[in-house]
Amino acid sequence: MILIAHGGAGDRKPTGKALKKLSEALSSGYDLLKSGGTACDAVVNVITVLEDSGIFNAGRGGNLQLDGIRRLDASIMEGKDLRAGSVIGLEHLKNPIKAALMITGTPHVILTNKGAGRIAKGLGPLPKPDRKAIEKLERAKKKSRETVRLYEQHFSTVGAVALDETGDLAAGASTGGVSVMLPGRVGDTPVIGAGIYADNSLGAASCTGMGEAIIRIVLAKEICMQLATMTPARSARLSLNRILNIGGKAGVILINNKGQFSVSHNTKYMASGFIKGKKLLVKEAFQ
Ligand code: GLY
Repeated sequence: MILIAHGGAGDRKPTGKALKKLSEALSSGYDLLKSGGTACDAVVNVITVLEDSGIFNAGRGGNLQLDGIRRLDASIMEGKDLRAGSVIGLEHLKNPIKAALMITGTPHVILTNKGAGRIAKGLGPLPKPDRKAIEKLERAKKKSRETVRLYEQHFSTVGAVALDETGDLAAGASTGGVSVMLPGRVGDTPVIGAGIYADNSLGAASCTGMGEAIIRIVLAKEICMQLATMTPARSARLSLNRILNIGGKAGVILINNKGQFSVSHNTKYMASGFIKGKKLLVKEAFQ
């Protein structure tokens, strides 16, 4: 059993608080795995803890779009049967990852705000943006010409991948997007194959970083496909170098179906960690 989580890749050094919350989330998810929970249960559990913390760019900590509205994206995929659920632009629900999970129980894969809200209406409401979020938006508006720099500094999407006792894999992610974004902008996180992918015959990957570049490379599926012939570390490195060619800053957490795993990024930092057996390790960067 292995569980890996991240709190975003970027050029800004992760805080001690963020690293502590990642450890807490990993321990909580691993307890579930130890008590017979599935890889999917563990991934949803970890991401829920991170969404609820308000520390990361997900759930109640999610960024506001330039019209002042928070539109959250999330997705989950199970490697056993390639079942996937994804939500785009949720404006009112507290835990997008749980909404994504509920969509796996419908005939569909992706639902947007209102439709997803009907399926997931039992979930609690998303709190209103606090003063910090509004101030951050005001700063972003003033500096919106410096979009690229802001992009690089402010990734803090969250994600997790897991391998459970039965050999099943799962991947998930949740985000509030990037710092400066037009209303309606959607990144990689809810795009199956770009932000996440899981297939028991290959592996499970959850990506973070510049969503537009990740979508163009279809990063998560590319990295998983390469696992047929290479190790996780090599596959991640190859694709993270490739994405740099189009200016993409990104990171990925990855497990193959043999239980080998990697945490890789082409940014200075990626708050991330893993738990396997008795070993729990969380760091601000893995290279
Ligand atoms: N990687 C998150 C986003 O671009 O929305």
